[in-house]
Amino acid sequence: MSKKKLSRIDLQKMKTEGQPAAWITAYDFPTAQFAEAAGADMILVGDSLGMCVYGYSGTVPVTMDQCIVHCEAVRRAAPNTFIIGDMPFLSYQVSVSEAVYNAGRFHKEAGVDAIKLEGGNRVCDQIKAIADGGMLVMGHIGLTPQSSGQLGGFKAQGRTAETAKAQIDDALAIQEAGAFALLVEAVPPEVCGIIRDTLTIPVYSIGAGVEADGQLMICSDVLGQFQAFTPKFVKKYENIGDKCIKAFENYFAEVKDRSFPAEEHTYKMVDGELDKLQKLLK
Ligand code: KIV
Repeated sequence: MSKKKLSRIDLQKMKTEGQPAAWITAYDFPTAQFAEAAGADMILVGDSLGMCVYGYSGTVPVTMDQCIVHCEAVRRAAPNTFIIGDMPFLSYQVSVSEAVYNAGRFHKEAGVDAIKLEGGNRVCDQIKAIADGGMLVMGHIGLTPQSSGQLGGFKAQGRTAETAKAQIDDALAIQEAGAFALLVEAVPPEVCGIIRDTLTIPVYSIGAGVEADGQLMICSDVLGQFQAFTPKFVKKYENIGDKCIKAFENYFAEVKDRSFPAEEHTYKMVDGELDKLQKLLK
């Protein structure tokens, strides 16, 4: 039996009932199929695809068109999963009307269920306008990779009383602006716990500890595919990178020693046709 796609109401109920939502990023058809089969509550088509799929050193170069193409593939693969499109850098910062237009593109062209954008107070006008346009918006605070330059790198946030208070203020402003949920990245668990208990909307963690209404992880980290660096909060559940290298090495070796392809990997001629061909070739 296929699983039922969660709605905003289901996610809110999970918070009320203390059931954590388990979600993951996916960028392509096979990974999204596996995520849905494994029972993901939500899938984020993160702009982390810039680093995990395209090999950029950050998320800033990622474009709207790249995000739409990846969201379309994920939507096709996971029709019964709540899918969130991630607004890339410059798709919502320039003006409120561009933010609404680009959020709409994710819905019209890729069939997402919600979008996510980064930032606190400074993006509340965009959040309000997108929500007023009838779309579900998730906020994202703490370590916001698109502004990692301003933050001085991919660094944990909210580690002092003053900066933690600023995160809590941002969280409240995002809820007030009309976001249906909030993602908190790389802040201490105590700070995420206060935000979770203060807000009525679901508050999810990536690298912000267990005191949250659910957890997000990057698929490439969970699978051990992403090689560039490993953030402190990552737990690798597999080492697909090593497995891929081993499989490719075995394949190349069998090509070199001619043990691949074997008979079972080849097609047979129709009975009697080889003799006929040989006569034709005389
Ligand atoms: O792009 C992404 O995958 C994200 C996570 C880092 C939260 O925004």
